[in-house]
Amino acid sequence: MSTSTDPTEKIATTGTTPSVSLRGLTKVFGGTTVVDDLSLDLTSGEFFSLLGPSGCGKTTTLRMIAGFSDPTAGTILVDGEDVTSTPPHKRDVNTVFQSYALFEHLDVRGNVGFGLRRKGLDKRTIDQRVSEMLELVELGDRGKERPSRLSGGQRQRVALARALINQPKVLLLDEPLAALDLKLRHQMQAELKQIQREVGITFLFVTHDQDEALSMSDRVAIMNQGVIEQCGTPEDVYEHPTSVFAAGFIGTSNLMTGTWSDGCVCVTPTLRIPAPGHQGSAEGDTLSITVRPEKVWLGDLTPQMFRLPGTIVETSYHGATTQYVVSIGPDLTVTVLEQNLPRMRAEDRWNPGDQVEMGWLPEHTVVLR
Ligand SMILES: Nc1ncnc2c1ncn2[C@@H]1O[C@H](COP(=O)(O)OP(=O)(O)O)[C@@H](O)[C@H]1O
Ligand SMILES: [Mg+2]
Repeated sequence: MSTSTDPTEKIATTGTTPSVSLRGLTKVFGGTTVVDDLSLDLTSGEFFSLLGPSGCGKTTTLRMIAGFSDPTAGTILVDGEDVTSTPPHKRDVNTVFQSYALFEHLDVRGNVGFGLRRKGLDKRTIDQRVSEMLELVELGDRGKERPSRLSGGQRQRVALARALINQPKVLLLDEPLAALDLKLRHQMQAELKQIQREVGITFLFVTHDQDEALSMSDRVAIMNQGVIEQCGTPEDVYEHPTSVFAAGFIGTSNLMTGTWSDGCVCVTPTLRIPAPGHQGSAEGDTLSITVRPEKVWLGDLTPQMFRLPGTIVETSYHGATTQYVVSIGPDLTVTVLEQNLPRMRAEDRWNPGDQVEMGWLPEHTVVLR
């Protein structure tokens, strides 16, 4: 993200012009600010996700980039060109929606070739490009089918092919997998990522699903109430959340609040959690901290670890992992996630009532805004 406010300026990101630059993008609906002074640069060829809860302004942002909705304020640049007042069909941008919006009166080939026919390309070129696109999305043998005969996943691949055939600078995807069941969704996530790598087009992918965003993206922006709370690589935003919202929205977080004193966050008079890397707080400041459940160990602690006693209150088996809820004081619990390793047996698991010593490395205590 850049703080620059000059809308005509071409902003350098890793030496190239960003595919999309948003500068102070704002949308107000009837007195409510839905997108609030949003600034963002997308690097050419990246898979970028906008992640946030329902109603935070994701679709509104995409619609403004696509040109379907006028910003109240701010500027949109596509590949360095100001398109803020350019009509949608003249923007080098295509959109894939959750509802596939296919033309039911056309077969699959007719749907995919639609954009090229409208551009007036000759039939041979269109046929060839349509065939290439259908190969890309693995629908080579379904060209003559009506969309209504296809499954949800196949329909979404037709929608993707129909958008990609126009070779846009940027593809906007608004929760394209949300209507699919979990197994198909996982499969399509991998395929979509693969296709994006092959075509090299910038993808701006909108989702409310944190796993989806983490597993697919080069970068993720976490959005809340019209503003971007945090932007970074999946690892960045997961391992180093900067706000309570970001920590809570991605993954399970063990949020605790206390006062800053002598390099520790004092959650209770007896529970002092060291946060060695933290700077910028004064003695007595109130701080929130988190530690991710998989960073916490039960037993087998190393000498470097911060340690504290606890009591198991809940054990739940999840196949690949076991989750424990550990009480560390009145109204204070920590959730712990353990891998079920090959050598582990059922009797090795902790049970409610067991006293444990738990711990984590001090650098895994994350201090939040
Ligand atoms: N055309 C509109 N008129 C009035 N309010 C709208 C309109 N479109 C969206 N909103 C409101 O803007 C907010 C953000 O909506 P949206 O961008 O669709 O969120 P998201 O896609 O993140 O779920 C919601 O509160 C929604 O009700
Ligand atoms: Mg939406």
